[in-house]
Amino acid sequence: EKGGYEHFMLKEIFEQPKSIHDTMRGRILVDEGIIKMAGIWDHLERFKNAHKITIIACGTSWHAGLIGEYLIEEFARIPVEVEYASEFRYRNPIISDKDVVIAISQSGETADTMAALKLAKEKGAFIYGICNVVDSSIARITDAGSYTHAGPEIGVASTKAFTAQLTILSLIAIKLGHHNGNLSKQDFMKLITELDNIPNKVEEVLASTHDYVKEISKQYADATNFLYLGRGYNYPAALEGALKLKEISYIHAEGYPAAEMKHGPIALIDENMPIVIIAPKKGHYDKIVSNVQEIKARKGKVIAVVTRGDEQVASMADHVIEIPDSEECFSPILASVPLQLLAYYIAVLRGANVDQPRNLAKSVTVE
Ligand code: M6R
Repeated sequence: EKGGYEHFMLKEIFEQPKSIHDTMRGRILVDEGIIKMAGIWDHLERFKNAHKITIIACGTSWHAGLIGEYLIEEFARIPVEVEYASEFRYRNPIISDKDVVIAISQSGETADTMAALKLAKEKGAFIYGICNVVDSSIARITDAGSYTHAGPEIGVASTKAFTAQLTILSLIAIKLGHHNGNLSKQDFMKLITELDNIPNKVEEVLASTHDYVKEISKQYADATNFLYLGRGYNYPAALEGALKLKEISYIHAEGYPAAEMKHGPIALIDENMPIVIIAPKKGHYDKIVSNVQEIKARKGKVIAVVTRGDEQVASMADHVIEIPDSEECFSPILASVPLQLLAYYIAVLRGANVDQPRNLAKSVTVE
């Protein structure tokens, strides 16, 4: 059932071109120039008139939520907050019937997310679910929702569910932006055309980075710490890269927005500190260049994820992982793939139980 792969996690990493495609299938109609999502369309006024959208989730799904915030605010210009479900539910949140609350959950059974949703519902909010498991508890209590169609995810470390969540959030943000007049037809078309092509790019990333990432993982299997840095859309991707490494390899890893480095973590940098830096040639690329200079001046080891053909960051980095060019908003999908592989191969080298890491369960049904 592992389809010839040694672990479910590796199988699921390689399934991503298909799982992303399946998540978009029937939803993006490039030729007709539309995104079809009944859950959004049927409740468009609720979304358009929302005072704010609050995204609640845990773990990897929370990281997807952070990227969702960037997407929805950029394209739909609706204010978004992202909260850990466990914090939201215990802090008497300010939520009313003018709010939309989106819960993101692979399993649809996470206790904290479920309880947070019930609370939001009691306060009159419109609640929307992004779940992978069909007919799960969260999917059943929400007013509406969109399933990710990633297929069953067996590995405890979430991989294909995460990229499917990013796909759904992209669709929602672009669709809302289109309907509330923030995105021109031209920008809308550019975005959906690019998103439609992301499965091909993920395929390309898998083919071009797998062997190299496997090879370099040998140099880091004995590391005791890792830093992951990114800016903008790739800051949550850095958090997710770090979570993947810590949960399956048991190496301590932290993710940070790159600019926060100088507010503390830079003190940790020496020749023994590997730093994964996500630096596609978009957004504030020049700022990332100076972050890399600062790291190299302190002899940190840099593993850089860059846009194909990059020279500036590449010339300073110890290891260069290239991903294809894309719209910045989709770059976390592409950048996450080699980071999943890096965590996977380091964990395998350390002899860890990759699919079932110690102390963890696939769905956390107790708080
Ligand atoms: O099923 P959910 O998406 O609600 O699960 C949330 C987290 O428990 C989950 O993402 C967890 O962090 C994963 N093990 C991460 O790989």
